[in-house]
Amino acid sequence: MSIPEKKLKNGFSLPEFGIGTWGMGGKGHRNYLNDDKVDVAAIRAAIELGVTCIDTAEMYAGGHAEELVGRAIQGFDRSSLRIITKVFVNHLSYDDTLSACKASLKRVGTEYFDMYLLHGYVADVPLTETMRAMDTLKAEGLIRNIGVANFGADHLAEAQALTENRIVYDQVHYNLEFREPERKGLLEYCQANDVLLAAWRPVQKGALLENPPGIVLEMCKKYQKTPAQIAINWLISQDNVITLAKSSSVEHLKDNLGAVGWRMEPEDIERLRSEYPDQRDVSDAVPLG
Ligand SMILES: NC(=O)c1ccc[n+]([C@@H]2O[C@H](COP(=O)([O-])OP(=O)(O)OC[C@H]3O[C@@H](n4cnc5c(N)ncnc54)[C@H](OP(=O)(O)O)[C@@H]3O)[C@@H](O)[C@H]2O)c1
Repeated sequence: MSIPEKKLKNGFSLPEFGIGTWGMGGKGHRNYLNDDKVDVAAIRAAIELGVTCIDTAEMYAGGHAEELVGRAIQGFDRSSLRIITKVFVNHLSYDDTLSACKASLKRVGTEYFDMYLLHGYVADVPLTETMRAMDTLKAEGLIRNIGVANFGADHLAEAQALTENRIVYDQVHYNLEFREPERKGLLEYCQANDVLLAAWRPVQKGALLENPPGIVLEMCKKYQKTPAQIAINWLISQDNVITLAKSSSVEHLKDNLGAVGWRMEPEDIERLRSEYPDQRDVSDAVPLG
């Protein structure tokens, strides 16, 4: 299948759905007991099913997730893929950002990243220094686009003012339950300023699917879709919003792919926005910085 892309007015586009890799190969550190073959096979299955956008980070599994991505993409046409990775918050000085990117390139076994993200905002390294490093990486052709993760609107605007390139992407915790990007004006900012908002944790690690509330079941019936498909489609039916879900299970992946290529009606987006129960104002994992 072909996954539709969301295109910004400035011409940049990405598929509305991509695969995430948090938890593949370990969490904050490599887990040597992890069945890496399952994770590599899951990424390969995703690509074979039409997924082209893969999200990873130097921090995931202590760099090992990037190595798994590198193994998984072997034999596929690199130019058809969009590989996104992130410099972690302890590497945001000018020199460290350059070295971190080069180390990530080596682990993935690629000559460039389609998108390189600051993994979060930190106050202890001047943003001007990190953005200068991002501009250098872009000028050297090692990264094709610059983005951020977990940035609130103010810091996104600040970062934009400090780079000669366009910031086209902010990756943040957003789903039916966790509404921080709405509550803090980031969604509105991205829509007004031509930035893609990539929602991470779209099914809240599966928790949103365990006992779906009545409003979700009603939508499942109306659209003949599963709870995962409703949760993901609610995100990507909104302007400027795309998403990434992780699945080591191919069955989960196929379920999630049923969320793409169609749109929920605007009144249903708004009903889910207002009627979904027990919403949370702030991320329980990485609040906006
Ligand atoms: N920038 C950041 O700070 C940040 C933070 C967190 C995440 N992310 C990115 O966003 C990606 C997605 O977020 P996430 O992995 O935290 O959460 P997620 O995609 O909401 O959930 C992944 C978990 O849910 C399960 N799952 C997925 N689809 C399912 C389905 N249809 N039915 C039942 N279970 C399902 C997966 O199980 P199986 O693996 O068994 O299939 C996995 O355990 C990450 O992998 C990462 O790339 C970025």
